[in-house]
Amino acid sequence: MSTGDTSKIPNSLQEHWMPFTSNKDFKENPRLITGAKGVYLTNHKGKTMIDASSGLFCNPFGHGRKEITEAVAKQLEQLDYCQPFQQGFGGSFELATKISRHTPGNLNRIFYTICGSTAVETAIKIAIAYHRAKGNSQKFRFVGRERAYHGMNIGATSVGGMINNVKTFASVLMPGVLHMRHTHLPEHKFISGQPETGAELADDLERLCANFGGENIAACIVEPIAGSTGTLVPPKGYLNRLRKICDKHGILLIFDEVITGWGRTGSAFASQEFGVIPDMMTMAKATTNGVVPMGVVASKEEIYDAVMDASPKGAVELFHGYTYSGIPVSVAAALAVQSIIEKEDIFNRAKDMAPYFQKGLFTLKDIDVVDNIRGYGMMGGIDMKMNVKPGKAGFECFKACYEAGVNFKATGDCLIIAPQFICEEKHIDEIIDKLRTGITNYQKNQKN
Ligand SMILES: Cc1ncc(COP(=O)(O)O)c(C=O)c1O
Repeated sequence: MSTGDTSKIPNSLQEHWMPFTSNKDFKENPRLITGAKGVYLTNHKGKTMIDASSGLFCNPFGHGRKEITEAVAKQLEQLDYCQPFQQGFGGSFELATKISRHTPGNLNRIFYTICGSTAVETAIKIAIAYHRAKGNSQKFRFVGRERAYHGMNIGATSVGGMINNVKTFASVLMPGVLHMRHTHLPEHKFISGQPETGAELADDLERLCANFGGENIAACIVEPIAGSTGTLVPPKGYLNRLRKICDKHGILLIFDEVITGWGRTGSAFASQEFGVIPDMMTMAKATTNGVVPMGVVASKEEIYDAVMDASPKGAVELFHGYTYSGIPVSVAAALAVQSIIEKEDIFNRAKDMAPYFQKGLFTLKDIDVVDNIRGYGMMGGIDMKMNVKPGKAGFECFKACYEAGVNFKATGDCLIIAPQFICEEKHIDEIIDKLRTGITNYQKNQKN
């Protein structure tokens, strides 16, 4: 195997403790990305790979977008930073207005955070602040779901439901968090779109209300489609049923749209796609096309009003915020993304490409080591058959696909596929062809 251009490998790889990475494995055989343009990435060996997961679901509008680079550069020259507490600048207000045009219902109050995790933790705090403002301070519990990923700070880890993310940190997680079962049933085999069965799994929330008192539950948070655990699409009727149970018990429903937001399903948000309006929504990733960090919480107007009304004029109404909440550089990138969305009719573009992508994805069904495939819109998950221990098949297969020229993320034994919305049919074909080559090579290696 060629070692490529080793001048692109730093002298030492030891000091950087990499996140969510098998550091020992990586440092023996590094995979460094040196360039990105459109739907392609280049690695330090000079090899070009197609990006089949939009980075970590965050660059759907393509790499190296000039409009974004120029907007960011211009902003840095004009106003590089302005403190976000008791002060502001025009861009963040302009962006909030634009975001609120896309959010469903009256989720028109926009709070900026740094990333998806901080958006989730902020939504948790807003839920508590809202209930206190309404005189319901006893509502302290949160309900999450198994196989959920909401990020990695304490709040987001607590409501998340991926065991490896939780078990080391169990002693410091939030108290009072309950989990519903996930929505993936054994009969959900090779389904593109929403499964017909499983809506009754939403009744887990009703059961938690019966056992712990609905009057004690502040909010229920779900990803409308669980992304990081491999596109677990909600069964038909599931989200509506959650909505009804939340209404019955005065529980706020939070949709974590960090992955599903900004067109991934073919609608602006999964909320519109599935016709269910939550009380709050979180977003991040594609908000800036992933090039600079930004998270967002959109809240219903009643929530904002209740928190405002609970404080006298002149007081800070919500004791929460970040040094980097809605800073100029992130806002500039997000405003440039808004104009790309508008000019390129991005949501319809994703919607139009989705059937072609789904069709291609499911052609991989015949490969022996593929155990299951799920998909919705421009997202899909391919489960690999377990190989000796959980996670090995996913990681080995990811490496085989990387060698075959297609890059994505694997979680456990699931390959996470989320093409960019700017993909043309030929790019989808290339992704699927290279996935077939990579997965088949992995399969051959297992037999040898
Ligand atoms: C649904 C969801 N919520 C929250 C997060 C956390 O986002 P971040 O890594 O930006 O903190 C992620 C990240 O993948 C996510 O998929």
